[in-house]
Amino acid sequence: RDADVDDKMTIVGHRAASLPLETRWPPFPLRRLGGFWMPESLLPAVAALHTSFAPAPDGVLLASFPKSGTSWLKALAFAAANRAAHPPSDADHPLRRRNPHDCVEFFEMRPDEHTGATSDGIAVDAASPPPPPRVLATHLPYSLLPKRITAGDGCRIIYICRDPKDTLVSFWHFSKKMAATMAVDAGAFTFDEAFELFCDGNCTGGPQWRHVLEYWEASRRCPGKVLFLRYEDMLRRPASGLRKMAEFMGCPFAAAEEAAGVADAIVELCSLDELRSLEVNRNGTDVLGLKNESYFRKGVAGDWRNHMTPAMAARLDKIVDDATRGSGLSL
Ligand code: A3P
Repeated sequence: RDADVDDKMTIVGHRAASLPLETRWPPFPLRRLGGFWMPESLLPAVAALHTSFAPAPDGVLLASFPKSGTSWLKALAFAAANRAAHPPSDADHPLRRRNPHDCVEFFEMRPDEHTGATSDGIAVDAASPPPPPRVLATHLPYSLLPKRITAGDGCRIIYICRDPKDTLVSFWHFSKKMAATMAVDAGAFTFDEAFELFCDGNCTGGPQWRHVLEYWEASRRCPGKVLFLRYEDMLRRPASGLRKMAEFMGCPFAAAEEAAGVADAIVELCSLDELRSLEVNRNGTDVLGLKNESYFRKGVAGDWRNHMTPAMAARLDKIVDDATRGSGLSL
């Protein structure tokens, strides 16, 4: 596997322009690498991460296919990991001042910041509490992660997956907003076109079901290393999902914290309504110039019913079922 990944990265380094190209899903051109469609502009960063990323020993990587609940996962993980320094009740909590994506970065977006890092540079003496786990995020498929993450001790990964049909709907809305920000004309990019491309796997990170399947299989092989969560379960029982995350990150809620309602306070702080009501998320913009409000839309399960006919839904379900059959994963 290592040789295989190294091979792919050599291709990225020297021959990215020879990889298959997809330009029909705005706003980015995509290139196919190792069976997945990736934004062309990210390929050099991915190659750089392969060469020099070193995960912190206590690090946690939040992984997801785009539009699967990443912003929520980032907010919850950040709030849980940093609750000693920033209790969720703080009026000045970082999540009340910054978008979740500014609290937990995608490591492929700014690889220079995240290569060679083995700790936060925080000196710890025996009397101090341990530093919080270093949390980063990625949309990269499991098979394209730097091997220092996936091999040996690597670092822990929390993956969130979502019903592909809702993921597609969310992705289509988001892509139109992102295209408008980048002054790319996506006015004619209809949902039906997005549906066809998605069914063919031709969108960022696609095929979506393969992205999910790789992390699912990794979580089955190494449950202590990869925690697999579902957006729909998180909607039903967010506090229970948060407790699982905290335990997995090595910072479980103590009995006194439970008695004080800390987990519930984090869930509340990270809820869609709370985050979207904040000034930073109503009027702020992200590093790409995209309005932060674009990350918060409906946040429900089943919105696909407002966009797809039953026949379309059945077609996508069948593609996903066929591709995941025998894996134990049901999407
Ligand atoms: P919808 O477009 O279906 O509403 P990502 O964060 O991976 O980009 O995913 C975005 C999706 O997560 C959007 O879905 C968005 O509304 C939803 N979302 C964002 N923040 C959320 C939160 N705090 N709780 C639940 N869902 C959230």
